[in-house]
Amino acid sequence: MSSQIDNRAIKKALHKINNSEKANRSLKKRSEDFQVFQDVFNKPTLLTLYSMFNNGTLSYLNGIVNSGKESNIFWGVTPEGNDVAIKIYLTVASEFRKRLQYIQGDNRFKNINTNGHKLIELWARKEFKNLSKAHSINIPVPKPIAVKQNVLVMEFQGIDGAPFPTLSETEVSEPDLVEILDLVTMLYQKSHLIHSDLSEYNVFKNSNDLILFDFGSAVDVSHPMSKDFLLRDLKNLHRFFSKRGIPAFDVEKKFLEITENDI
Ligand SMILES: Nc1ncnc2c1ncn2[C@@H]1O[C@H](COP(=O)(O)OP(=O)(O)O)[C@@H](O)[C@H]1O
Ligand SMILES: [Mg+2]
Repeated sequence: MSSQIDNRAIKKALHKINNSEKANRSLKKRSEDFQVFQDVFNKPTLLTLYSMFNNGTLSYLNGIVNSGKESNIFWGVTPEGNDVAIKIYLTVASEFRKRLQYIQGDNRFKNINTNGHKLIELWARKEFKNLSKAHSINIPVPKPIAVKQNVLVMEFQGIDGAPFPTLSETEVSEPDLVEILDLVTMLYQKSHLIHSDLSEYNVFKNSNDLILFDFGSAVDVSHPMSKDFLLRDLKNLHRFFSKRGIPAFDVEKKFLEITENDI
């Protein structure tokens, strides 16, 4: 693309983002968001968003839902009027290098290019792939819709741009624990995945339904550390539910139960 066409594309993409400000919390007004705006909407990311506006994936982009160290989540709307969550991985984040262990060793990602942009794009693709796999066996996760470069689009889990509460933000009960342990078991046995970042912060609760999310770290069982990650996920759940006064489970026993059919 010539730079003149690039500039036009960027302008159009910005327009779609700016448009939404009228209808939503402003992205630019709040000063901390202005920093986010500058970090997130660099030229390559704007071009990626532009292609998504153009190919019918997105109609416009509303305000920010959450800003993290590695990514920011925005509320977007599709041409059909469906709400979507847009996870934009920060191309400036150095955090990814620390998390190389979740990619290296996973047989699905051999011969990877570990420098800068390519690594971040791989991270986005990996989360998309993990979500697709989990979704295909009916694990409740945000349905993945599209991924391009550092931008991942998925179903929005919430109402009017407000995400459902995570377990850390709401009441939990014993059936929730039973349900999560069942999901972890299904994930392992049917899709051969370990979430690897499971905690009260990465599970939504919508009345009685639980939805697992944030699958960037999830690894295939072939990963040499997959068992350690599974054990850590179980320990995290144990810690959280005990803290909330819900009868704890036997971590070791659960671990053996989940992995008993391994060959
Ligand atoms: N599909 C989604 N629908 C609605 N909100 C979401 C969705 N995915 C993420 N979020 C919001 O963004 C926050 C961070 O998302 P997460 O994927 O956990 O990113 P991080 O890697 O920064 O932890 C969530 O706690 C939630 O508020
Ligand atoms: Mg998270």
